[in-house]
Amino acid sequence: MEKPAKIQPATGKLGVLLAGLGAVSTTFVAGVALCRKRLRRPFGSLTQLGTIRLGKRTENRSPAIRDFVPLASLDDLVFGAWDCFADDAHQAATKAGVLTKEDIDLCADELRALRPMKAVFSRDYVRRLDGSHVKQGKNKMELAEQLIEDIGRFTKENGTSRNVLVWCASTEIFLKPTEAHQSLAAFEKALRDNDPTIAPSMVYAYAALRAGVPFANGAPNLTVDIPAIWELARRESLPVAGKDFKTGQTLMKTILAPGFKARMIGLKGWFSSNILGNRDGEVLDDPDSFKTKEESKLSVLDTILQPELHGELYGDFHHKVRINYYPPRGDNKESWDNIDIFGWLDYPMQIKINFLCRDSILAAPIVLDLALLMDLAHRAGFHGIQEWLSFYFKSPMVPPKLYPEHDLFIQLMKLKNTLRWLKGEELITHLGNEYYD
Ligand SMILES: NC(=O)c1ccc[n+]([C@@H]2O[C@H](COP(=O)([O-])OP(=O)(O)OC[C@H]3O[C@@H](n4cnc5c(N)ncnc54)[C@H](O)[C@@H]3O)[C@@H](O)[C@H]2O)c1
Repeated sequence: MEKPAKIQPATGKLGVLLAGLGAVSTTFVAGVALCRKRLRRPFGSLTQLGTIRLGKRTENRSPAIRDFVPLASLDDLVFGAWDCFADDAHQAATKAGVLTKEDIDLCADELRALRPMKAVFSRDYVRRLDGSHVKQGKNKMELAEQLIEDIGRFTKENGTSRNVLVWCASTEIFLKPTEAHQSLAAFEKALRDNDPTIAPSMVYAYAALRAGVPFANGAPNLTVDIPAIWELARRESLPVAGKDFKTGQTLMKTILAPGFKARMIGLKGWFSSNILGNRDGEVLDDPDSFKTKEESKLSVLDTILQPELHGELYGDFHHKVRINYYPPRGDNKESWDNIDIFGWLDYPMQIKINFLCRDSILAAPIVLDLALLMDLAHRAGFHGIQEWLSFYFKSPMVPPKLYPEHDLFIQLMKLKNTLRWLKGEELITHLGNEYYD
């Protein structure tokens, strides 16, 4: 038995602050409200439905994760949000078109009560939107200070004992790390100088950490994947996580690719095409925002298949990802994958997948799990990049010089072993004692 980590109890209310009040955020908030009323069930959420095996198989101990580690309960969650449009969550959910009118009506009061605070927003980073519900300030540091005030006011008005912030706002244009991102001192100077390489999402991240709030990034933006933010997270002893919620087509890729590799089946090509018609799709119609997403989606196969170790199988495959904005579909994305594989004696085979998915239905439980697990991490004294939460991300953040783990099953094992370790339980390696005792 390991020594259990000291975890502060989950007493009081947990504030879940959402940057962006669009399809994902409103589906998440409405879902929590409906589950609290026991009108709907939280499928897709590991924290609500998952179990964890403890000890030896003969012990038959498999408690629910939420009974095993001290998580905030759904009843203790309160929500805050920022958006560059002033629509309340009821209007935003209606426009997003993910949930039925019947479902939205069942939690209309809760949704109407969630009105977004003014955003830190600039069209330079999200060109397809033109929101006017936006903060003004003489530089980005001043805007960060306004966000810190927002968090203070939210905490006071709602009596929260802890908060977490999840970025559910639009995908920003592709940015590469620059000098301004390398240290906290350089970053703070860049905030004061209005440096263009500091995107709004970074201003939120900086403000959250300064206000003592863990930050998880659901979009592929650079945001908290820079040394300056890690330095601040270390200084404030706060966890950060990212990037890009793992849903839809990439989720399927990280389920299938480990299977091909496990069976030493080769890959010649993987062509992925999507149509989607929500606001996210509209934003991704801008080539610079798409580039951020594309980088996130493309990295997955290389790290799972390890062509550097298995050149004959994976040294020369074509991987293409296309996202097409097609308004009639709304949030009900459709994706097609054509996968060219080869097996015994080089014989080619094909797999076709047609996934009629609902993006925000897959993303909402991830927001819930991340909010609860980031809060747990904070109470357990974890800080910096939370690699054990890679399970939830398309482009998991890792400390410098490490490669990310994309295999969904390894990610799940890592997550559960981290929980076992937290509670002083034996880690599970799947080595049966009967073979070596
Ligand atoms: N839906 C999914 O399955 C999924 C999966 C992975 C990642 N994501 C990412 O999650 C994010 C949200 O997706 P969505 O479908 O809800 O998109 P959405 O367009 O419906 O919502 C995003 C909201 O963010 C707002 N916004 C933009 N910039 C902002 C800023 N600087 N501050 C505050 N608000 C701002 C927009 O006005 C909009 O209301 C996107 O970045 C998307 O790429 C979504």
